[in-house]
Amino acid sequence: MKYELKTLDVADAHRLYDFYQTIPAAENGAGNKAHGLTQEQFIEWIKQEERWSRGLDLRADWVAGTTYVLYVDGAPVGRSNLRHYLNAALEQDGGHIGLSIAPQYRGRGYSKILLRETLKRAKEKEINPVLVFHFSDNVPACKMSESVGGKLVEERFHEKHGRFIRKYTFDTSKLD
Ligand SMILES: CC(C)(COP(=O)(O)OP(=O)(O)OC[C@H]1O[C@@H](n2cnc3c(N)ncnc32)[C@H](O)[C@@H]1OP(=O)(O)O)[C@@H](O)C(=O)NCCC(=O)NCCS
Repeated sequence: MKYELKTLDVADAHRLYDFYQTIPAAENGAGNKAHGLTQEQFIEWIKQEERWSRGLDLRADWVAGTTYVLYVDGAPVGRSNLRHYLNAALEQDGGHIGLSIAPQYRGRGYSKILLRETLKRAKEKEINPVLVFHFSDNVPACKMSESVGGKLVEERFHEKHGRFIRKYTFDTSKLD
């Protein structure tokens, strides 16, 4: 198995469009803003993501972040978003990384590769520690973070969602 984590790139738009349509618009706190877009809108969305990654055109309450795609044997299987820094809201329940694996590729260990590779990008950007939040009942996500070295530092009831939420921290200095 060969895998590669690549920055979302407009040059890959054609091979990424169908992949992005298979990922739900919202699932367990992970959002996919490209779900339901036309191909033309998808290309514009990628360009917008590229600008946000460079800290351009951000709304007042938004932080810069980079979107990555995990390819396994050449096929896109998952995507992650790495926020370069946190604001007060993200400190509470958004964290640095949001990610998802396309439904047809789940249960194969790919999320652990995606998270580990995204953490390496965080290390390159000198982000340490990295915060990641999961709903406590999102068992695959919690197991993913624990398998990749995340430390459970807090669990609390999230009033807005009516669910318990867990906060994990990752020490990126410990990554290879
Ligand atoms: C959470 C998610 C990323 C996991 O992706 P995945 O590729 O299926 O997960 P993996 O195959 O890498 O498995 C990760 C761990 O969860 C376990 N797992 C996977 N599916 C599971 C299931 N249905 N029930 C229980 N455990 C499960 C695996 O055994 C593994 O644990 P281990 O390391 O202790 O063996 C995926 O379900 C997803 O995209 N969900 C929607 C978005 C989301 O919840 N994102 C996380 C919040 S930001």
